[in-house]
Amino acid sequence: MTKITIAIDGFSSTGKSTVARQLANALEYIYVDSGAMYRAVTLYAIHNELFYEEDPGLERLVAHLPEIHLGFVFDPRLGYSEIHLNGENVEKEIRSMEVSERVSQVAVVREIREKLVELQRSMGKDKGIVMDGRDIGTVVFPDAELKIFITASPDVRAKRRYKELLGRGEQVVFEQVLKNIRERDYIDSHREFSPLKKAEDAVEIDNGEMSPEQQFEKVLHLAKETIEQSL
Ligand code: CDP
Repeated sequence: MTKITIAIDGFSSTGKSTVARQLANALEYIYVDSGAMYRAVTLYAIHNELFYEEDPGLERLVAHLPEIHLGFVFDPRLGYSEIHLNGENVEKEIRSMEVSERVSQVAVVREIREKLVELQRSMGKDKGIVMDGRDIGTVVFPDAELKIFITASPDVRAKRRYKELLGRGEQVVFEQVLKNIRERDYIDSHREFSPLKKAEDAVEIDNGEMSPEQQFEKVLHLAKETIEQSL
């Protein structure tokens, strides 16, 4: 069976990662959550106290880049991979509100993007991959056979993320989550390098009114159609 590359981009908390993982499982493809990589670099910066007001360009963090090693390790019990930062599983820690509030600031830095994009491309060199993020269809894999761009209103997305954070036992206020989503949308869409935007050839899906099942069916249908056309 011909293997293709599937790029899924979109705004924060649209459920991209869930649908990307489901799709990768159904097709027996590799799944890569590129946002987890930016989050892990952010966690490293927090642990090593590398955020300073007088260093908005995060030059100290950039100087540490050679010491940051990221990898995805498959957990057979879970049936998917989790991110490791310098050998340690940080999948849970990277989802905290503290990381969410810093990550978009880290993701604007050119040197950080270059390092992560290189790693992402090496993971996708044999195709058979589903990767989700902000710049996958535009920058990481501009030749991906299938590009999907997912949207939903900020309110719908904040409600989903709020529920998820509460479910994990994090103490958060809904307004804080909504504010973070709006801020990240703004920074991600307006940054100089690789801003979040829909690739011209991406299929746009607004999932505000869709159930997760409907969304998955739609994306799976698109993937099967594209694979058939690539034969
Ligand atoms: O919170 P959500 O799951 O929507 O975001 P994420 O996919 O975990 O990504 C976290 C942040 O990383 C985004 O808000 C972006 O600032 C950054 N990011 C990026 O710049 N490029 C990517 N390919 C993926 C994420």
